[in-house]
Amino acid sequence: MEPHHVHDVLIPETDLEGRVAELAAGIGRDLDGRELVLVGILRGSFMFLADLVRSFHRHGIRTRIDFMILESYGSGTESSGTVRLARDCSIDVAGQDVLVVDDILDTGRTLSHAVRHLESRGALRVRTCVLLDKPSRRVVPFEADYVGFPVPDVFVVGYGLDYDHYYRDLPWISKVTFTG
Ligand code: XMP
Repeated sequence: MEPHHVHDVLIPETDLEGRVAELAAGIGRDLDGRELVLVGILRGSFMFLADLVRSFHRHGIRTRIDFMILESYGSGTESSGTVRLARDCSIDVAGQDVLVVDDILDTGRTLSHAVRHLESRGALRVRTCVLLDKPSRRVVPFEADYVGFPVPDVFVVGYGLDYDHYYRDLPWISKVTFTG
């Protein structure tokens, strides 16, 4: 038997679907007709971003989409303190409204690094949107502009989030229980 299981659903599909639509509507209202460069942080954001952009489209919001890869050294469920930009986005963000999209805000290191980097490339406004927020884990003072769901300090998988590269495909968010 695996030394962990993912049977406990924390956020079901229908809740994710509803919240993504609410987030897209709220972000759209704040944009006031301007277009948006969306920068997804790979790999965890891919499913959230895919649903978000379709919702933006339904609200008539024009987007351009790109991705960045930020790596934090470490293994397993703990990340280290160092973040490295492994792939920058190719769209020229200078003078643009940018929305950085990530799966989960944990220590805050990844997103604060991403925002600083995009600002240094001349973005006009950089906002952040995360599906999940674990506020109790913050190491760097950082709050996202848009949050799908606050979650307790448990390890979660699904809807893009992985454990050892597995479970990204789950259409819901599950809690991982370590049994071994
Ligand atoms: P920081 O700490 O920089 O980290 O805010 C954000 C990244 O940490 C990963 N992370 C998780 N991944 N389940 C996961 O699958 C979790 O519970 C979890 N907590 C943090 C994730 O890659 C995120 O982008």
